[in-house]
Amino acid sequence: MKKIIVANWKMNPITLKEAEDIFNNIKESREKLLRSDSGTEVVICPPFTYIEHLDYINKNSNLKIGAQDCYWEEKGAYTGEISVAILKGLGVQYVIIGHSERRKYFMETDETVNQKTKAVLEAGLTPIVCIGETQEERELEKTEAVLEKEIENGLKDIDLSKIVIAYEPIWAIGTGNACDVEEAERMKEVIQKMTNKNIKIIYGGSANASNAEGYLKQADFDGLLVGGASLKSQEFVDIINKAL
Ligand code: PGA
Repeated sequence: MKKIIVANWKMNPITLKEAEDIFNNIKESREKLLRSDSGTEVVICPPFTYIEHLDYINKNSNLKIGAQDCYWEEKGAYTGEISVAILKGLGVQYVIIGHSERRKYFMETDETVNQKTKAVLEAGLTPIVCIGETQEERELEKTEAVLEKEIENGLKDIDLSKIVIAYEPIWAIGTGNACDVEEAERMKEVIQKMTNKNIKIIYGGSANASNAEGYLKQADFDGLLVGGASLKSQEFVDIINKAL
């Protein structure tokens, strides 16, 4: 399966100029590599306000643009929201859904994840649906139950062959405390059993250039969802290169 490396910039950087610099660095390194590239999909998910400009300067490159969230209605009186239709019009091809930060700070639930995932699929885009357990749930040995609930409710009535699942143990996100490759692989197998074998599963949580190979090669994840390390263009390029 083709690997997919996703950059989740979150609410960074704070100027368009910085965003453009990071994006151009990744694009240029990627262009140099293209001749020997096996076709890894690289998706950059910037804040909404940078999408249009980055898509514009992306022309003729093979980076893909993603969004970090969306709303499920197409248009109307939903102050502050951005629909999948709007994103699609700007060139977005992937949308991250149900990131743990959205669940924690913005009250997202498995039900909203389900509605958003369906909206993304209906528009013909690819949802990257995040699931994962907290430190407390892990200590109480509830990880499998949490994943099962998130899959059962969040992905209800959804064609799983059309989505990407990101296994992101919450305790590993932004902490520098990445999940052991063996443990992550075990969870990947648990998710495979709960869904089906052909589903795309990527890992996220303090992924960096030093540990990327373990997840991509040893644990055979289909890719990575990278937060902090995706804002350092050289490190992100190094991560992409581990997927070759
Ligand atoms: P991190 O974030 O790589 O900074 O841990 C990953 C994510 O939140 O998707």
